[in-house]
Amino acid sequence: MFSSRTNWPLGPNRLSLEIEELRRQGVPLLDLTESNPTRCGFAFDRQGIFEALANSHALSYTPDPRGLLSARQAVAGYYAERGITLDAAQIFLTTSTSEAYSYIFRLLADPGDAILVPQPSYPLFDFLAGLNDIRVIAYPLFYDHGWQIDLPALRKRLEARARAILVVHPNNPTGSFVRREELGELLAFCQRRDMALVADEVFADYSLAADSQRVVSHAAATEALTFTLSGLSKISALPQMKVAWAVVNGPAQLLRDALARLEIIADTYLSLSAPLALALPKLLETRRALQPQILERVRSNLQLLDARLRANQPINRLEVEGGWYAILRLPSIRTDEDWAIELARQDGVLVHPGHFFDFSSEGHLVISLMTERAVFEEGLRRILARVAHCV
Ligand SMILES: Cc1ncc(COP(=O)(O)O)c(C=O)c1O
Repeated sequence: MFSSRTNWPLGPNRLSLEIEELRRQGVPLLDLTESNPTRCGFAFDRQGIFEALANSHALSYTPDPRGLLSARQAVAGYYAERGITLDAAQIFLTTSTSEAYSYIFRLLADPGDAILVPQPSYPLFDFLAGLNDIRVIAYPLFYDHGWQIDLPALRKRLEARARAILVVHPNNPTGSFVRREELGELLAFCQRRDMALVADEVFADYSLAADSQRVVSHAAATEALTFTLSGLSKISALPQMKVAWAVVNGPAQLLRDALARLEIIADTYLSLSAPLALALPKLLETRRALQPQILERVRSNLQLLDARLRANQPINRLEVEGGWYAILRLPSIRTDEDWAIELARQDGVLVHPGHFFDFSSEGHLVISLMTERAVFEEGLRRILARVAHCV
């Protein structure tokens, strides 16, 4: 009856069974994985958001495959503030970055082709690739006083059917940005092998400190065909609005061809609704009041974490440059999943095991720095007590 691409293991894993059971028993849980920004106690401009959604122009239908021009101009304005000049024709609006990924995979890859994705990274790539009948080849990031792309390993994994290299900037959950010299190498690989670069920049505005070695945005790259993805889910902390985009750039002829083909893909779906497209400029503006609140939360949770992790603790945290997460390194006397289950069962604390993000070794837990302060503080206290008790 069903396609083989949907032959996923559908049963819950051990950790979700445990959490389900604890919830059934009514056990209060401290959720240190909370990263839904609408549940983290931030002050949104409610009135402004409602007004933006009540635009009478939404009563007429003026389809455009790329999405409403005024909305794309607002997105171009966002990049102009970063010193990057774009033509609105280089921008395609979608309802999520997931949808943008699908458009791009359909544009670049035939069934059985491959994309290279960082490891560890965002867990959705396997699904997005599988749904588009393409394969994922993981390339490693390695940790040495900070995360870096293992370029020699990436080079070795390039194969004839690799169609694109994907980067996440900053990566989820490592919080590491792509450096200029890494980008130079990646673009050279892409040029030489007729591959595209796909950069997911949804967390790009959440940098904890300036670094001149860092790529500002991949949207400016013209050496190879480049797709840069972002959207309101992280920029304005409005995931429920379902507004995202892809910016296309590259050598002139390739860019023209890519835009023409992408236009037909986008025209087939005409995804973004008129009310959201009309609201986009205002919703994008709300980031100016939201991002400082989020950065303040992330910074203060990180400070608290550092204050609690004394040098001789059996637990430490990895360097983080940006994004919404911290990675705890703890003794691999149990698997990450066993640590997460024990913390849930014994202490009522929820954390992500590292394998959720495909870490190549045990000993990593991921926690959200978006968690409200009191929950974060108490959850952290219990994690430290549990680890101290176990070693
Ligand atoms: C790296 C990365 N890309 C994209 C998204 C989601 O974006 P969207 O809501 O636009 O699909 C997330 C959400 O956590 C993410 O971590």
